[in-house]
Amino acid sequence: MQQDIERILIPRSRIQDRLHELAREIEGVYGDQSEGLIIVPVLAGSIIFTSDLIRCLPFKMKIGLMTISRYRGATTAGGETRLVQDLNLDIRDRHVLVVDDILDTGGTLRVVLSQLALRGPASLRTCVLLRKLAKAPTDFQVEFVGFDIEDVFVVGYGLDYNNHYRNWPDIAVLRPELYR
Ligand code: XMP
Repeated sequence: MQQDIERILIPRSRIQDRLHELAREIEGVYGDQSEGLIIVPVLAGSIIFTSDLIRCLPFKMKIGLMTISRYRGATTAGGETRLVQDLNLDIRDRHVLVVDDILDTGGTLRVVLSQLALRGPASLRTCVLLRKLAKAPTDFQVEFVGFDIEDVFVVGYGLDYNNHYRNWPDIAVLRPELYR
């Protein structure tokens, strides 16, 4: 796997440090409403981020699972996003935090948030590990961002290329000749 990686963009130690900061930011925003928060990870890219982040949160929370499908090229964002399996719990009047791996054009999160909003949550906020600042739409509010990154295709720490490299522990740039 190592030979496919061009460079490390964000090393694992920085990710871990940032997780603790993010958890404090989340606790600060929710305050008294933290207890009973429902976390909805956007699968599968956010599995590692979510599992590390929630272990930094010192309050009772639940995980709500939903499955979406994205039709897109292996290294291109966008395409059609559809809900293929509905949430497994009721979020009406509950505070909900959606967790995703990366905000690129925002298409995926728009679909997820609009689906969740129909279910009447008390509040709906978003936490992304990465945001591609150059492409993220300015009208799209994300409350919690791990890192702003340049517009490069990244893998590792849950992010994939053709479903590979999710287990690489750092956020890394793939050698371009592998996907061009
Ligand atoms: P949108 O455009 O919907 O894109 O905000 C978000 C989704 O696109 C995928 N994506 C990436 N996946 N490395 C990846 O592994 C990347 O650099 C990348 N950029 C976008 C990802 O599925 C994300 O949720």
